[in-house]
Amino acid sequence: MFEKVYLITGTRKGLGKELANKFLEEGHKVAGCSRGTSSIEHENYIHFELDVSNEKAAMKMVRQVKKEFGRIDILLNNAGIAAMNHLVTTPYESAKKVFHTNFLGSFLFTREVGKIMMKQKSGSIVNYTTVAVPLHLEGEAVYAASKAAIESFTRTSAKELGQFGIRVNAIGPTPVYTDLIRTVPKDKLDELLNQQVIQRFGEFEDVKNVIDFFNDEKSNFITGQIVYLGGVMP
Ligand SMILES: NC(=O)c1ccc[n+]([C@@H]2O[C@H](COP(=O)([O-])OP(=O)(O)OC[C@H]3O[C@@H](n4cnc5c(N)ncnc54)[C@H](OP(=O)(O)O)[C@@H]3O)[C@@H](O)[C@H]2O)c1
Repeated sequence: MFEKVYLITGTRKGLGKELANKFLEEGHKVAGCSRGTSSIEHENYIHFELDVSNEKAAMKMVRQVKKEFGRIDILLNNAGIAAMNHLVTTPYESAKKVFHTNFLGSFLFTREVGKIMMKQKSGSIVNYTTVAVPLHLEGEAVYAASKAAIESFTRTSAKELGQFGIRVNAIGPTPVYTDLIRTVPKDKLDELLNQQVIQRFGEFEDVKNVIDFFNDEKSNFITGQIVYLGGVMP
């Protein structure tokens, strides 16, 4: 099997950590980051403690990963935060943090890794949106808006980077049981599940399956696409 170099943001816990561990198990190299300390120990893993919205830190990490591993094949812009709130009671600071982490973090890493992938003339970038965008979920106005920005960014990035052999796609998970949704009330989650064609929680494997599909060499005709889980439609 051909060994790939993954850069995954947000690997301390949740989906990012599970993905990193799985790709390491499969024999790939992984560079990860989070604001907290590493929770992964593996000879093919390197961790950077940073905030994805810190421009200098993001640039430094990407430079160091290239130096350490020689290339970057796949970027997963996984780091993200949510803030459930009615829009009229959402503090400005909270909205700013959501946009900085979700949108600006994805922008910075796409820009920096994009430069390396342009030189390589290959690469796959996967961004993270959510079904809260097409479903216009109440209580998630700011979170969904930050992810809608990512959807637009995904499509334009795919156009701007396509000529360099770089593909950019996005996955939109339904609720998957991680810390991100632990504070969402049960009735809200049930309401959401009822709007899915396939009415169950997403599993880590559902997310990995779509990510693997996007990154597969055989998907070299797939770019600018957004795939929602659970049968949710745009
Ligand atoms: N779980 C779901 O139901 C669901 C549904 C739709 C979309 N998603 C998306 O899936 C992605 C992963 O979510 P998850 O459920 O795995 O969330 P999670 O369990 O809360 O994990 C988030 C990860 O991102 C890191 N992180 C957060 N802010 C960061 C920052 N500013 N800089 C660097 N790292 C940061 C966290 O580590 P630190 O705290 O140490 O920084 C953690 O490792 C997110 O983009 C989320 O929007 C999730």
